[in-house]
Amino acid sequence: MNILISGGTGFIGNYLTGLLATRGHTLTLLTRKVRTSSNPSIHYVQWEAHSSNAASVLAQIMTTIDAVINLAGEGLFDKRWTPAVKHHLMESRIGTTRALVNAMKSAERKPSVLVNASAVGYYGDRQNEIVNESTPAGTGFLADICVRWEEESSVAAAFGVRVANPRIGIVLESNGGALERMAIPFKLFVGMPLGSGKQWLPWIHAADAAHGIAYPIENKDFSGAYNVTAPEPIRMNGFCAELGAALRRPSWSFLSVPEFALNVALGEAATSLTGGQQAVPQKLLDAGFQFRFPILQAALADIYP
Ligand SMILES: NC(=O)c1ccc[n+]([C@@H]2O[C@H](COP(=O)([O-])OP(=O)(O)OC[C@H]3O[C@@H](n4cnc5c(N)ncnc54)[C@H](OP(=O)(O)O)[C@@H]3O)[C@@H](O)[C@H]2O)c1
Repeated sequence: MNILISGGTGFIGNYLTGLLATRGHTLTLLTRKVRTSSNPSIHYVQWEAHSSNAASVLAQIMTTIDAVINLAGEGLFDKRWTPAVKHHLMESRIGTTRALVNAMKSAERKPSVLVNASAVGYYGDRQNEIVNESTPAGTGFLADICVRWEEESSVAAAFGVRVANPRIGIVLESNGGALERMAIPFKLFVGMPLGSGKQWLPWIHAADAAHGIAYPIENKDFSGAYNVTAPEPIRMNGFCAELGAALRRPSWSFLSVPEFALNVALGEAATSLTGGQQAVPQKLLDAGFQFRFPILQAALADIYP
């Protein structure tokens, strides 16, 4: 298949493109930077979703594309959430999605499927509730982003494109994402839970995340929103204990970084650390998806051998 990927140059995209290229797909990666590829099945196309030539860049490519994967978006936790930053975080996702959907609409020959990222943040903070794909959206900025992101992508369904929205959990690998940041204090022997420690972490190993995001590409009956999380979420306290064990470092579970300190340091973004979701990937499980790392201990043992 010819697959167009936006946001394919990032942390998750790295695993996803590796997976899809080894499965024989040809990949066109949209990027804002000048990049060259040494892999003959991966091509880069430079673009900016908001630039005046975005539509013509996409128009040239779209008729040759069989599937589109959209992961693009500014890093959610790179800056404090001021109103201007929040606007940019939202627009970097919605604007990109809209540009892709418009290009699909205009294309004479349309891709058959759009896999448009979303996140477990869709559900907001759910305390101890078990969350699956039929659980309604929650509240808060991350939930608002996810709702609008999914809505924008669903426009493509109206002109016959199958749309799937992976609600991605916290993707784990050592060289990026949340785990790289979380591991730093552990490596310095000061690892401890954040907040109450009771909040749920809907984690997923990067290899399973890549397979889960790619799933609708090769499974033609699969559509709609679905959780890309491991079948066994864990609370923050348990996660830190496992992380400490994997790194052969202590986890000071009787201590914790208090919520007020997180609020002072991070502002509104702290809510994504102090709250959580006990999300289960019901749709993938029902479809027979095989998780390579269903248990956190095995996932961390793979990441930190
Ligand atoms: N990592 C996680 O645990 C996780 C969990 C749930 C959901 N997600 C979502 O999944 C997506 C990918 O996550 P990631 O961790 O791989 O992110 P990442 O490493 O920050 O990569 C982001 C990608 O988006 C592109 N991008 C950034 N800002 C953009 C903009 N203004 N316009 C167009 N493209 C832009 C970048 O491409 P160029 O720089 O090459 O243009 C890059 O390829 C994100 O939208 C994220 O919110 C991630």
